[in-house]
Amino acid sequence: MLKGLLFDLDGVLTNSAKYHLSAWNNLANELGITLTDAQLDQLRGISRMDSLNMILKFGGQEDKYTEAEKEKFAAEKNAKFVEQIQKMTPEDILPGIPQLLKDAKAQNLKMAIASASKNAPTILNKLGIMDEFDGIVDPSTLHRGKPDPEIYVKAQELLDLKADEVISFEDAQAGVEAIKAADQFAVGIGDKELLKEADYIVASTAELKLSEIEEVFNKRK
Ligand code: G6P
Ligand code: MG
Repeated sequence: MLKGLLFDLDGVLTNSAKYHLSAWNNLANELGITLTDAQLDQLRGISRMDSLNMILKFGGQEDKYTEAEKEKFAAEKNAKFVEQIQKMTPEDILPGIPQLLKDAKAQNLKMAIASASKNAPTILNKLGIMDEFDGIVDPSTLHRGKPDPEIYVKAQELLDLKADEVISFEDAQAGVEAIKAADQFAVGIGDKELLKEADYIVASTAELKLSEIEEVFNKRK
């Protein structure tokens, strides 16, 4: 029986993913690395240092910098990101999400955030939806990033639920893989081909309807 919903944040509840990607793109350019759209897409859901390491690898620069230099680059990128999110307001909640949260509340479903972002609490406060959630996984406690299932298992445990009692929402390929590795029902938001492992896929959050997703959830094996 469905008892809870687990949400990624960037690209699911709000479009902060675009700020992450543009901040990474700027940093890559400064390092003389040109990223393709497909490479940028692969950064979705990936933790800060893992993202930087992926970018350096894409540019063939994986051994070029010391850890201290990499920390500095990551801090620079984060400073740009933090600057961008200051202007966020409740208007930045993606279409379809307010209704989804309302429908979930009406059914007494518990809800948690499974975002790798250390900026998640700031963003949720800016959006004015912090109080809607019963738990937020603290990414600094994680040993492994998405696509490892750890973050989704932790989110489910925060709500005291089992894998077959939750539906999890993601826009990232690595995130959908994490959900499936955690044995949960995955809703993918975005490109059908990239997110093909998901149990239910929509092109955008505007298409999310809890009753329709639940119908598929209830029929799953
Ligand atoms: C989310 C985003 C990623 C980001 C990661 C870490 O998973 O989708 O793009 O790199 O969080 O975010 P942070 O705010 O801690 O750098
Ligand atoms: Mg995301």
